[in-house]
Amino acid sequence: MLVAPSLLAADFMDLRSAVEMLNSGADWIHLDVMDGTFVPNISFGFSVIDPLSKLAAKPMDTHLMVVHPERWFERLAGDGVECVSFHLEAAGRRTSSNIELLHSLGLKAGVAINPDVPVQKLFPYIGKADYFLIMSVFAGFGGQKFIPDSLDRIATLRSEIVRRGHKALIEVDGGVGPGNAAALRQAGADVLVAGSSVFNTEDPCAAIELLRRA
Ligand code: DX5
Ligand code: ZN
Repeated sequence: MLVAPSLLAADFMDLRSAVEMLNSGADWIHLDVMDGTFVPNISFGFSVIDPLSKLAAKPMDTHLMVVHPERWFERLAGDGVECVSFHLEAAGRRTSSNIELLHSLGLKAGVAINPDVPVQKLFPYIGKADYFLIMSVFAGFGGQKFIPDSLDRIATLRSEIVRRGHKALIEVDGGVGPGNAAALRQAGADVLVAGSSVFNTEDPCAAIELLRRA
């Protein structure tokens, strides 16, 4: 199981310490980019990602919650980001060409969906995308409650990936913690994104380890 802690829940006055901690404990570093239009919140952009990229020693996993995600792919590649996910709801018919664009830039391509999008809408991208990001809360804010139905959505997607003989990873994001990590793994998740359950604890490194061993 891979753990991708979300910096959204870190202390923004001390992102340096957060990244240093993740450099030793995390598998991926999850960056939540929000534009105030695709989601009703604004997080951070390149003024934060540029300096973070110089410090990050683990793969950076950028979750774009923005309209026109493709506008930012080249700059993210320039920052040495490894994985970029964008929302199906934002990309629509451009989903396949966005995946190709990310691949042409040497990036891993992820397709994300909110909880109200039928998981079957991802099926056409099996064999194209490197990973799928299943939101288990509505994108926009950290600290929300996990939507239990997400387990079935993950299991459905996992069996279709297996049925077609592919190897795409499934990443789950929102309300993930020690209470649901084992069930998520059993449902077929490979990557756990965790904000609050990592950073709002006494020992974030131990919290990451707990999730990894779920
Ligand atoms: C929400 C973000 C998540 C968020 C997760 O829109 O995509 O990555 O940071 O936070 P928690 O783990 O607190 O739900
Ligand atoms: Zn996220």
